[in-house]
Formats: sequence, C-alpha cells, structure tokens
Amino acid sequence: MAAINSNFLKLKAGYLFPEIARRVKAYSENHPAMAARIIRCGIGDVTEPLPPAAVQAMHEGVAELADRETFKGYGPEQGYGFLRQAIVDHQFAGLGISADEVFISDGSKCDTGNILDIFGKGNTIAITDPVYPVYVDTNVMAGNTGDADAQGTYAGLLYLPCNAANQFVADVPAGKADIIYLCFPNNPTGAVATRAQLEAWVKYARANDAIILFDAAYEAFIQDPAIPHSIFEIDGARDCAIEFRSFSKNGGFTGVRCACVVIPKSVCGQADDGSRVPLHQLWSRRHTTKFNGASYPVQKAAAALFSAAGKQQVAALIAHYMGNAKLLREAAAAAGLPVFGGVNAPYVWVGCPPGLSSWDMFDKMLGEAQVVITPGSGFGSAGEGYFRISAFNSRANVEEVCRRLMTLAA
Ligand code: MLT
Repeated sequence: MAAINSNFLKLKAGYLFPEIARRVKAYSENHPAMAARIIRCGIGDVTEPLPPAAVQAMHEGVAELADRETFKGYGPEQGYGFLRQAIVDHQFAGLGISADEVFISDGSKCDTGNILDIFGKGNTIAITDPVYPVYVDTNVMAGNTGDADAQGTYAGLLYLPCNAANQFVADVPAGKADIIYLCFPNNPTGAVATRAQLEAWVKYARANDAIILFDAAYEAFIQDPAIPHSIFEIDGARDCAIEFRSFSKNGGFTGVRCACVVIPKSVCGQADDGSRVPLHQLWSRRHTTKFNGASYPVQKAAAALFSAAGKQQVAALIAHYMGNAKLLREAAAAAGLPVFGGVNAPYVWVGCPPGLSSWDMFDKMLGEAQVVITPGSGFGSAGEGYFRISAFNSRANVEEVCRRLMTLAA
C-alpha cells in the first residue's frame, strides 16, 4: 500500500474559506427564504469586472493564438520578458531588481506555498498570529511543525502575536528565526508596517541570516504615501527578502490568475555542507521543472494593467474598494465595535461585541443579518474575539451591510 504524507493528518478539518462556504450552504438550505438576502463579505474575492485594458489585451492575445503566423505554444516558464520587464519598470523602478529576478506564476497562494520546496528541514519558522492560513497549512504539509493544540496552534512554529497593543504589527522576536512570513498590507487585519518597522525586520533578518517572505499582494491599496509598497524599498532587503506580488486584487484577476515572485540573486540559504547558495537558482530550477508558465493571453492582460489606461482603470477599482472599506469602518464604529484596518487595505478588522467569540459573531451575522464575515479565530488563536469584513463588493451591497450592522447593534 502506498504510504501517505501523514503531515496532512495534522491539518485542521477544512481550509478556512471552504469551511465558511460549507456553513453558508447549510444555512441557505435550512432557511431557503433567507438565502437570497445573503451578502458575502467573507473571502476577499473581487466583484467588479476586469479593467477594459486587460480585457482588450486578452482578446488580442487569443487572436494571436488563433493565427498560424502568431501562434505560440509553451512560453518561457519564468514568464514572458515583456511582463517581467513591465513589473520591474512599474513596480520596482529604482529598487535594483532586474527582470530575470521576477518569476511569473498563476497566483500568490501557490507561490507562498510552493516556496517551501526550496527550503530544507529544521528551520525555525516565524509567522504572525493572526495570519493568512496558507503560510501555516503549507508548513504543516511540508512536515515543518508538530501537532496542533485545541486552539489550532502548531508545535514547532514561532508565533508572533499581533494585537491591539502593537496595532497588529509584530515586533521582531527575541530569539532566532530562519524564515519569517510578513504580509503588508496585512491579510487579515488590514494593518500596514511603517518604514521604521520594516527596517527593524530587515536588520533582524540580516543579523540572524534569516529570510523574509514578504507577501505584498495588497500593496496597491496603500493610501498613505509614507508606507513602503515593497520590502526592497528598505536598504539591505535585497540580501534577505523574497517578495510576492499578485494581480488578483489590484487588477481583479482572482479568476484570471497571474502573480509573481521576486527573488534577488543576492539572497542565499545554506546547503548541508555549510556553503551559501542563491535561492534564485533553486527557485528557477523548481519553477522550470514544475510549472509551464501562465498563459500568454493572461500575461498580455497583466502587462496591459501597466498601460496608461490600465493604470487609471486599476486606480478606479482600488478607489471603489477603499470607498467600501471606509463605509464599513464607519458603520462598525457606529455600531460601537473596535475597528482596525481598512485604511490602507481592503480588510476591516473588527472586535466582537463583549461575550461573543469569533464564530459566535459569524453565526450571529449570518443568522440575524444574513451577512457572511470571516471569524478572526480562523486566522489563528490571536484572532479570537475579532472578525474580518472584506471590502470586496458592490457599493450597493456594502451600503446594505452597513445598514444591517447598525440594525444588529440597535
Ligand atoms: C482572503 O480572503 O483571505 C483571500 O481572498 C484569500 C486569498 O487571496 O487566497
């Protein structure tokens, strides 16, 4: 009989968002009269149509594939040069990143999980709590943890608590970590790190020969010009950081799929014989072996987001979702709840009313207001007592959610 990867058996029953979908489905089946009233502010999935510049470029890409003269088969696994260069020019200009340090992929969820392929065993892995669950679950699958306790906290991970006292930005740990996951603007809390806080992290990573895995999937939502968009804005980060970028939330590509990983050639890990090995070379080998590239029309569409028209259309999408975030923040505050995030991020992080757990609040919002939120405890034990409202929705839905929040509070 084939042996399985028993690490999977350590995972909690379901990934958070499928579990929420399961509960919503059960509620709808048990309350069919209410089903049409349900508004989903759970998973951060975009609702607005694709920017026209991307749609046009995708059509053009398909037309090229339909013509013998311009047909293309397999593309470069690392991505087409035109997109890699556009990313450097528009997102990393002046930061010392070259196009061959950018690897195009089909999503940051996959990238942040797959990156573990190039790391060995025995690393001390630091994650913030609460956290995007993919970082934890992929480490469990890779055998980098022990078992979970009743709160879902895994032995073997170094948890960095984020709470109202530190404004949901983790301090560098006292001890040594080898790999650190940071996500700014943060999913789930919507917090952002200041330049000084990121400098402290880069300093820590360099002092400890650690690697920062910096998830910047939400950078486009930053409104405050003083907040860095990339870890590579920090001196020294080119020696200790890998950055993940995505077109999912800025270009509305959650259903289209396109993202990238940036690995400077100067970032190294340690081989068994103690030698320093560039991670770029390992990821390049992994990517070209296990991935055949994002599709050509999709890469054309992603590049079109950087055209003058594309940039304007992306800015309009961001303004729309951040307008939603503002309304949600105001409504939650008016309902008397503690509110965080939602200023430089499309997630509003809200304290539950006294006496209610995160899942109690999920049930209350679904049962009494027919609004789906994400329970904070689903992001880690430090998320208990909070819930996340996603601002990805139509304006009409958000206004209705605000009305229902107020009614619930009355
Ligand atoms: C979320 O809701 O946290 C995100 O949509 C998840 C993701 O981007 O994979």
